[in-house]
Amino acid sequence: MTINNALFEPINIGNIQLSGRFVKSATVETLCDQAGFVTAQYIQHYEELAQGGTPLIITGAASYNTFSRGVPYQLAVDHDDKIEGLKKLADTVHQYGSKIMVQIYHTARQAAPAPMGRSKAQAPSVVSEPILGVKPDAMSIEEIHESIQQYADAAERCKIAGMDGVQIHAAHGYLLSSFLTPHTNRRRDSYGGSFENRLRLLLEIYHEVRKRVGSDFPVIMKINGSDDLPYRKGLSTETLVKIAKRMEQEGIDAVEVTAGHYESGFTFERGNFKGYTRNVLKHGMGVHFSKMKRSFMWLFAPVVDLYFQRSARFSAGFNIPYARQFTKALNVPVICVGGLNTKQQMSEALANNDCDMVSAARGLVADPYLYHHMKNNLKGPECNYCNACFSRPGVNPLDCYDPHIKAEKVQMLAREQPELVELAEEAL
Ligand SMILES: Cc1cc2nc3c(=O)[nH]c(=O)nc-3n(C[C@H](O)[C@H](O)[C@H](O)COP(=O)(O)O)c2cc1C
Repeated sequence: MTINNALFEPINIGNIQLSGRFVKSATVETLCDQAGFVTAQYIQHYEELAQGGTPLIITGAASYNTFSRGVPYQLAVDHDDKIEGLKKLADTVHQYGSKIMVQIYHTARQAAPAPMGRSKAQAPSVVSEPILGVKPDAMSIEEIHESIQQYADAAERCKIAGMDGVQIHAAHGYLLSSFLTPHTNRRRDSYGGSFENRLRLLLEIYHEVRKRVGSDFPVIMKINGSDDLPYRKGLSTETLVKIAKRMEQEGIDAVEVTAGHYESGFTFERGNFKGYTRNVLKHGMGVHFSKMKRSFMWLFAPVVDLYFQRSARFSAGFNIPYARQFTKALNVPVICVGGLNTKQQMSEALANNDCDMVSAARGLVADPYLYHHMKNNLKGPECNYCNACFSRPGVNPLDCYDPHIKAEKVQMLAREQPELVELAEEAL
């Protein structure tokens, strides 16, 4: 098969032109301060990705109110005082010709409330989350309406700060995804029941965001290609494509395709889950759990890992079969994420018309210069999908935690950024 180089050709999302068809997918960073303000380390993280030539960078999930926060030290776009930091971030990334969008989300029932300093979690309905053991409250109509305004306020702040767009997170079982899915949405009011009712919150948020940012500001969406909820009322690819098609008609500018909720067994993070649960307990959000919960989870960790290993077995380009369906149905760019970290895999996905663009998360954690390396046929550190990075959000900064790959990454960065070596030498 002929592999063309579409990966390095420009493409438009809405009215912005990207230098290539490669995207950094959202990865929560644990690099902001407690209140979610941008820090120097946060900017440095994104400067590296921009130096690596990444055409489009999507930030990690950003919260917009107290209930939407999922982990400490993640970005917040909840007040106007966050605009200054966001502006510095956008200006830094733009210096290198990259574009940057902020992913806005609400964690809903997929975060334990206590470590986030609140007493309850909000969700469409009172349906317990089995992985974290969270029993949420059902949102009142007033809370829903308030949330819509706060979401739109957040998007407007991103535009004022000079961002190139926003991504609405409607995947992974978070708030919007859980409103779409019948298993998690058991409401009997105008936000639950029929397809139209379950879609209502996504539509209302999109319309309010669009009203605030205007028609020339890209608004894109991340959506599941499958809910991966067997024996529960999850959404099929067919229904999810129908939702994306509807959003395209409403004016969404691009769609990124992923899969799964937490309770699917983390199918959006297919990889190696051996030792994952104990890593969470030692280095991740598990440090905030009660002693009793920690001891219980420690004991059953191998069984839990085995469940994840089976439900979320890795295969290269694991969301391609879903993305292909979206690409057939939509005219706006479809971005495929999941298990893509080589030029060969990405070029093949584009050449086969499985998607219009590709994105990577863990591949860029291992090698922030991945795009530059692919473009120039250079070898960089290659992610092995060990999921050590995925066990640490909220407690340790986003980085590669495989000792061998991390060592390669340090060497590579020193090679690519001689000024960093000089700085390190000066610091000695
Ligand atoms: C540490 C970490 C943090 C993540 N944070 C987010 C996030 O904030 N928002 C989101 O939509 N996905 C998040 N993801 C999922 C990724 O965006 C992506 O969908 C997933 O890792 C599959 O892509 P990959 O195989 O290229 O890593 C995260 C993944 C990792 C490893």
